[in-house]
Amino acid sequence: MPTLAVIGSQWGDEGKGKITDYLAEDADLVVRFQGGANAGHTIKVGNEVFALHLLPSGIIRDGVLSVIGNGLVIDLEELRSELEMLHKTGRTAEMLRISDRANVVLPYHRTLDGAEERARGAKGVGTTGRGIGPCYADKVARAGIRMGDLLDEVYLWERLDTVYPQKERLVQSFGMKMEQEKASLLRTLLEYGNLFRPYITDTSVLINDAIRDGKRVMFEGAQGTMLDIDYGTYPYVTSSNCTAGAICTGAGVPPSAVQDVIGVTKAYTTRVGAGPFVTELHDAVGLHLQNVGGEFGTTTGRPRRCGWLDMVVVRHAVRLNGMTSIAMTKLDVLSDLPAVKVCVAYDIDGQIVDTYPGSLAMLAKAKPIYEEMEGWTSASCKASDIMRKGYAALPKNMRKYLDFITTNAGVPIDIISFGKGRDETIDLRKRRWRI
Ligand code: IMP
Repeated sequence: MPTLAVIGSQWGDEGKGKITDYLAEDADLVVRFQGGANAGHTIKVGNEVFALHLLPSGIIRDGVLSVIGNGLVIDLEELRSELEMLHKTGRTAEMLRISDRANVVLPYHRTLDGAEERARGAKGVGTTGRGIGPCYADKVARAGIRMGDLLDEVYLWERLDTVYPQKERLVQSFGMKMEQEKASLLRTLLEYGNLFRPYITDTSVLINDAIRDGKRVMFEGAQGTMLDIDYGTYPYVTSSNCTAGAICTGAGVPPSAVQDVIGVTKAYTTRVGAGPFVTELHDAVGLHLQNVGGEFGTTTGRPRRCGWLDMVVVRHAVRLNGMTSIAMTKLDVLSDLPAVKVCVAYDIDGQIVDTYPGSLAMLAKAKPIYEEMEGWTSASCKASDIMRKGYAALPKNMRKYLDFITTNAGVPIDIISFGKGRDETIDLRKRRWRI
């Protein structure tokens, strides 16, 4: 039963797309289990760059079955345009499967996302505006429309009859109008139903069958541990569980199906949107990370806030997800800094705190306690040498940095990525998939 989960250790944008694509070379299935088009996974293959929001990263690999699990919320227009993008590059969606139980993001979810965000004023979450929160809220309130519903006109009409008036009242309470009349929305949804019909199925059955047959199954997380609705920096989080526990409910597999969990961890920290960020830098180093790291959102283009690596966050992620190893990304971005710092604990009112507090009031008072290390230069970090000799060719101070993180996190670093390309990766693990 070889399975592997790829989960973000921080606030998303850790480079999960690249790592998932890299590991997908040996996978039979790549399964997404939560989130929606708020995610942005960038994958570089040769000269082509793919910005995926909904499609699993496996879609770029030939022969990999890509599954959109029931835990996602699907923006139909976005999915259509990603499939078109795929066709333009000469690829097909033949290997795509979509859960009949995944919820659909409807036009009014986007409207409500914007209206609710404006109503929060200065306390806004800084959502991606993709309707994610309102759609998940409807799912939990039993007012959602699911992919399977799009295939049955009579049932879909019944569902719209129940939910549309409720939503219309809500939209009107913000002084706004529904974008589409009920009958027109029905027609649009049926058209999408026809378009996606070949892909919609009970994905839980096919994933469990694949696991039973010894196929290699990869679970691809979106966002990151710190955006998790329960264990992130609530309320400055997304509306789904992004941690490994969500694999079970979002893909329809038992807990025993989750074997190895790789925590994708950026060599420094970034976050988009509002909320606590203890190691955030407002100085020249912060700007260096933003510019050299190209830290601008794939989904919204917004500049990302940047800061030093926070091991309180990483240890929180290792514990919550049962991470068995770390894939460290964007190490190259730290080159040419005279010194690098890693936060090991927080000072809160004179107390040393080494686990991530649930209270925003405590986080507001948290001061980072840093371990400072000497930096390394990009000149000492030659890609061609590294490709040939691997870990040993990394600059001494970079290896010290990595050793420190390994010891502090309590799990090994398996993969080191120092560029966007598939080949700009050092894989330290001899045998990845357990048999
Ligand atoms: P929502 O998911 O659009 O509701 O946004 C909630 C918060 O999660 C905002 O701060 C977003 O910027 C953040 N967020 C959502 N998806 C991602 C992602 O894929 N990467 C980074 N931040 C994200």
